[in-house]
Amino acid sequence: MAETVYPVPANWAQDALVDEAAYHAMHRRSVEDPVGFWRDAAQRIDWIKPFTTVKQTSFNEADFGIEWFADGTLNLSANALDRHLETRGDQVAILWEPDDPADAARRITYRELHADVCRFANVLKSRGVQKGDRVTIYLPMVPEAAVAMLACARIGAIHSIVFAGFSPEALAGRITDCDSTIVLTADEGLRGGKKVPLKDNVDEALGHCPAVETVIVLRRTGAAVPMVPGRDVDWAEVAAAQSTVCEPEEMGAEDPLFILYTSGSTGKPKGVLHTTGGYSVWASITHQYVFDYRPGQIYWCAADIGWVTGHSYVVYGPLMNGATTVMFEGVPNYPDASRFWQVVDKFGVEIFYGAPTALRALMREGDEWVTRTSRKTLRLLGSVGEPINPEAWEWYHKVVGEGRCPIVDTWWQTETGGVMISPLPGATALKPGSATRPFFGVQPALVDNEGVPIEGAGDGCLVITDSWPGQMRTVWGDHERFFQTYFSTFPGTYFTGDGCRRDEDGYYWITGRIDDVINVSGHRMGTAEIESALVAHAKVAEAAVVGMPHDIKGQGIYAFVTTNANVEPDEALRRELVQWVRHEIGPIATPDVIQFAPGLPKTRSGKIMRRILRKIGENDVSNLGDTSTLADPSVVDHLLANRPQLA
Ligand code: WTA
Repeated sequence: MAETVYPVPANWAQDALVDEAAYHAMHRRSVEDPVGFWRDAAQRIDWIKPFTTVKQTSFNEADFGIEWFADGTLNLSANALDRHLETRGDQVAILWEPDDPADAARRITYRELHADVCRFANVLKSRGVQKGDRVTIYLPMVPEAAVAMLACARIGAIHSIVFAGFSPEALAGRITDCDSTIVLTADEGLRGGKKVPLKDNVDEALGHCPAVETVIVLRRTGAAVPMVPGRDVDWAEVAAAQSTVCEPEEMGAEDPLFILYTSGSTGKPKGVLHTTGGYSVWASITHQYVFDYRPGQIYWCAADIGWVTGHSYVVYGPLMNGATTVMFEGVPNYPDASRFWQVVDKFGVEIFYGAPTALRALMREGDEWVTRTSRKTLRLLGSVGEPINPEAWEWYHKVVGEGRCPIVDTWWQTETGGVMISPLPGATALKPGSATRPFFGVQPALVDNEGVPIEGAGDGCLVITDSWPGQMRTVWGDHERFFQTYFSTFPGTYFTGDGCRRDEDGYYWITGRIDDVINVSGHRMGTAEIESALVAHAKVAEAAVVGMPHDIKGQGIYAFVTTNANVEPDEALRRELVQWVRHEIGPIATPDVIQFAPGLPKTRSGKIMRRILRKIGENDVSNLGDTSTLADPSVVDHLLANRPQLA
């Protein structure tokens, strides 16, 4: 099969921080001498007390542990703010574009951001927040969200951001899991012209969270929201009372920085914990090299701060590197499908980093929405969150980037803290659909289902064989689950949960999740989570959820539902269940298909044969494989005969 290869453009090979030869030399050193490589690389951070040890890591059960730069101390907010004040205090740090293009943008300089962060850090202190306390952040994409993150980092509080699209139920679960006693929110969010009742959601969530003592409410839309006396305070009011002086707390490199909940193949979402030193090094070095970033360039990562991409590449990485980072409150298709490219032109964006799902949706609207904008400032494009299909890649390259901008297809995970496999624009010839080669310090490997290593070209499970500084350190409150989830499947390695192909050139092609996680519009959903939401409904006896191919979202949600004995499933119930799941988890978990079934295919021991359901979800039913172990094979015939008509 002939595949297209795009060589590194000559100007990039010449001007980039790293060319092909330098990439190979640096990657080789990073794996042959990790201690030397990372001792040097970590000098990019201002340490309060320099570290003397670099790497103490083991993925083996007997001496399991992950520590980087362990005896060093630092403060991330000082690295993102204070150290820029002298050189670029008046440079814009955050360029904020509101949901409605008719409203005013905001330009916040490093000096102003520093003052805002110090002031808000003092607010948190005045509410009794101390080093190590958990602060839940449920905010829309407004600069105050970045202020809140940096203020937590400044005083050593651990932030836990909950995506503002999650339901009160989901929010309550995350507040309770990390025992957070303070929540930061807004009256309402604004996305695509629609209001999101954030404060109402918080009020509903807090019905289940009696330990929460303080809610700080930012006025975004000015809607009248009830304020609970003694608990709820107005953001602007409490901030105005505080000084703009707040010394950064001296943090150990392994002190926690943030928790971010993410879906796994089983159970409730896991609180992924990242620590201060290694994460700072990783977020900043990956941001610099993957985007060939030079201080002052206008850079836009279109992710929401509710996801890890927003943490590492809207806020922390760019600010540590002295960037002007664009923060966008809205959505790609509001007021119309030119929105992204209008913002590019408005601010002169040079680097744009977005998700395949948005590109596919925009591609469907036609080229005209893109070509009517200039985009002449764009130099580099990035992709993240899910595999990018070659068709969308080519469109991004040709239409959006006019053939002149390399595309960095970055593979990574909440757990990895930052980019793991990606082209470097001055070093890597591109193949559409491939994340190409590992970043410095990353040692990917492929193994078969039994854990036997696959050498050379081949297909298998993607594992990482040694630690890197940005790696998560534990699952909040459940270290055993951390080990079991990531290090027990293929002992001695970190298991990513992804399938992957490596080609003859050593390029990696991520094929998608091979566990019970589905990737809907770049958002990870555990099938178990959706199933437990469904069975929580009074009329549902049993449910099984699988992924299905979806043109825009990448994967959609296909749910098989068995109702209780006396319930007649009908269209009204189908609609009710869709609403129910949206309410239980949030709109991102909206099922695309619900198929009612009197029974699910089970083995004689009662285990659901998900393999069969996956094939039905994928509409690949010509060969369902061995069904001889089914307790009742007629169940499958019923499922096949009653598949809903798909659009
Ligand atoms: C998928 C998002 C293919 C993958 C940063 C991974 C990708 C999961 C890519 C993590 C990519 C992310 N190509 N697949 N460039 N980037 N993925 O934790 O399945 O939200 O395991 O982190 O997204 O999703 P998460």
